[in-house]
Amino acid sequence: MKKLMVAASALMVFAAVNVQADEGQKTYQAACFACHGTGAAGAPKLGDKAAWKSRIAQGMGVMNDHAIKGFKGKTGFMPAKGGRADLSDAAVKAAVKHMVDQSK
Ligand code: HEC
Repeated sequence: MKKLMVAASALMVFAAVNVQADEGQKTYQAACFACHGTGAAGAPKLGDKAAWKSRIAQGMGVMNDHAIKGFKGKTGFMPAKGGRADLSDAAVKAAVKHMVDQSK
């Protein structure tokens, strides 16, 4: 019985992690892909390790902050939440994580 409960809670943790990864990918596709999928407007492209290296070096905190509040950098202008004010901060953070995970 105890074993079963351990297995069940491990499964729940796994499911929760998966939901977060899913949310990141969905948000990315809906709100970030237009620029970050193509490199439009000077956006660092998903998977372009060279373009992400120095950004990743700033740490997730800075990148999340820039993605949520928007910022003007050396290559272009990143609109707050990619222009999608309806997105939650958590959804934007999940999308940042998704992009970073695919770009290092
Ligand atoms: C209208 C185009 C556009 C959209 C849509 C967009 N971005 Fe960006 N993003 C940019 C540009 C341009 C930059 C680079 C700015 C610079 O460094 O000059 C950037 C940079 C970033 C960075 C790097 C920040 C840093 O500190 O270097 C992150 C993280 C990011 N975007 C996340 C997102 C997320 C998450 C979304 C979707 C919710 C999104 N972006 C949607 C244009 C866009």
